[in-house]
Amino acid sequence: MKRVLSGMRPTGPLHIGHLLGALSNWFELQDKYECFYFIADWHALSTMYDEPESLEEFTVEIVTDWLSVGLDPERSTLFLQSAILEHAELFVLLSMITPLSWLERVPSYKEVRQQMSHKELATLGFLGYPLLQTADIIIYRANFVPVGMDQLPHLELSREVVRRFNSMYGSEDSDPVFPEPMHLLTEAPKVPGTDGRKMSKSYNNAIYLKDSSDEVWEKLRPMVTDPARVKRTDPGDPEKCPVFELHIFFTPEEKREEAAHGCRTAGIGCIDCKKILFEEIEKTLSPIRERRSELEKHPDMVRQILSDGNKKAQIETAKTMVDVRRAVQLYQ
Ligand code: TRP
Ligand code: SF4
Repeated sequence: MKRVLSGMRPTGPLHIGHLLGALSNWFELQDKYECFYFIADWHALSTMYDEPESLEEFTVEIVTDWLSVGLDPERSTLFLQSAILEHAELFVLLSMITPLSWLERVPSYKEVRQQMSHKELATLGFLGYPLLQTADIIIYRANFVPVGMDQLPHLELSREVVRRFNSMYGSEDSDPVFPEPMHLLTEAPKVPGTDGRKMSKSYNNAIYLKDSSDEVWEKLRPMVTDPARVKRTDPGDPEKCPVFELHIFFTPEEKREEAAHGCRTAGIGCIDCKKILFEEIEKTLSPIRERRSELEKHPDMVRQILSDGNKKAQIETAKTMVDVRRAVQLYQ
């Protein structure tokens, strides 16, 4: 079976944007591939180095979210980056052969530094972010990496580094040390938050997988709608309404068209329309919530699953590093 690997930084609990983007895809990949999914806590530190206090909480939170949506520790290896020190060892070795200019030209390097100009990010760790990501991927000899568009330059860099490593340390008559990892582009759908902007923790407009039924409704009820629909008797335009964008993800076509018609003719009010959406979102969220409440009854279970995953990951990285040390001709 070919291998898939992907990671998430533990920067907060997961919301329905993550579900529709990454998680539903990760879930399905489990049927076809040997999957490795991990919490990239070192990567989170590259920008959160001065506020590490939430990392542990978010790590447990996200693994709980993963299990709740059906990532299956029997089939997939779920693990924590910082528990597998070989990622760092490989990063050091790769750093010897990676020209600084390759890292400096990765677009996210300049972009994120501009977005976060209040923070000192002229650090070695931040510049090296995509190289650590390379180590994460190739240490498992992953063939495919499901990621969004924003990560494509990082995958490109990882292939360049792999080619350089293989040609520098590989021998002509044996297999290359590392395969070149390919991205599996995850269509990142634009999921609007309750204020109409992209759903994001930092905008405070997200519906979380762990939200209770009441919390979901309290967020949907005041959600932004077609601004032209001021009064109940004003007809609206679903094309201009973020609530309707959510309907497209959650509500079956027939029901959705009915709501759209009701909107255009002022036959239904926005609250009616949101109630329909709420019921549909609940069909997705309530089984997730049920699994979460089971997990919350056994708080040690999540930690145990992570530590079992770490052991499985460790076995793979130990094997790879024997080959790597041999290739680099280190004493062993
Ligand atoms: N950079 C990724 C992100 O921000 C997280 C990540 C770290 C990752 N290491 C990885 C993703 C390896 C895929 C493979 O989303
Ligand atoms: Fe949006 Fe629905 Fe209100 Fe129309 S009825 S404006 S689609 S919330």
